[in-house]
Amino acid sequence: MQTIHPLADMTRWSNEVIASGSTIALVPTMGYFHEGHLSLMRLAKCLADRVVVSLFVNSLQFGPSEDLSRYPRDLARDSRMAADEKVDILFVPTETEIYALDFNTRVSVCSITDTLCGKQRPGHFEGVTTVVAKLFNIVKPHIAVFGQKDFQQLSVISKMTRDLNWDIEIVGHPIVRAEDGLAMSSRNTYLSSEEREQSLCLYKSVQHAKTRFDNGFTDAELLKSEIRDIILANSGVSVDYISVVDKDNLSDKEVIDSNSVLALAVIVGQTRLIDNYFMGSDTEISK
Ligand code: PAJ
Repeated sequence: MQTIHPLADMTRWSNEVIASGSTIALVPTMGYFHEGHLSLMRLAKCLADRVVVSLFVNSLQFGPSEDLSRYPRDLARDSRMAADEKVDILFVPTETEIYALDFNTRVSVCSITDTLCGKQRPGHFEGVTTVVAKLFNIVKPHIAVFGQKDFQQLSVISKMTRDLNWDIEIVGHPIVRAEDGLAMSSRNTYLSSEEREQSLCLYKSVQHAKTRFDNGFTDAELLKSEIRDIILANSGVSVDYISVVDKDNLSDKEVIDSNSVLALAVIVGQTRLIDNYFMGSDTEISK
């Protein structure tokens, strides 16, 4: 595995790979790898001749009171993990190369960013789409792989790619969970052991939604209120949102059907965690 820092070197490498007739899959990340990231890398390896993993903690997608300064970072550990997965390139651009002092452009997807995390974290998705647009232009991938754990992010990036006519296939990977069901996240490192226990309310909620859906239950309001009870049974956990939305346009659903997604964001102590469930899908641990 080769580590590349300068943008120009990254694009030169991609141009050579493309000229040789090979395909490139990109896995954008903010690092501090866990099994979720590694699964995306493995999928990328199955889908293209060469795999680029980008690692950039994107300041633009963090709100002023969010965790940018304490976001976990360990480049040496990440390099070892990516090398073990036999990715071709670990692309680690610098902040100043991505965002020059006079950087003044934003890429923004409308409408589907007005709900869920987009509503709760103003400016977040504009930061995500701006950096992913830049990564697409620098790396020139044929395929880009994203996790369904961040299902709104996946929808927003798919929409941006279609709207801007990029010839890039956006591929989603199912949520990877720890053995007890908690969705893997770099932010799980913030949790104390008691908070780690409490955070299982997310997986319990997902399982509850599956059972309800499988039994033909269709009342979204009632499901949301049952899930609120599951979550709030834990002292120290608060609800950021509990929503049932259409998987395509992210509008609220009143009647649950097989196009519905339960989307959850909770705050455990100081840590914001998300999870979701596509109605009718499996909830088994996919690790
Ligand atoms: P990050 O949180 O590092 O996640 C990188 C990729 O890993 C995303 O596509 C995310 O959905 C996926 N991922 C994280 N946890 C996962 C899990 N438990 N199961 C499956 N996939 C998982 O998401 C970002 O970084 C950034 O917003 C980024 C897209 C890199 C733009 O800065």
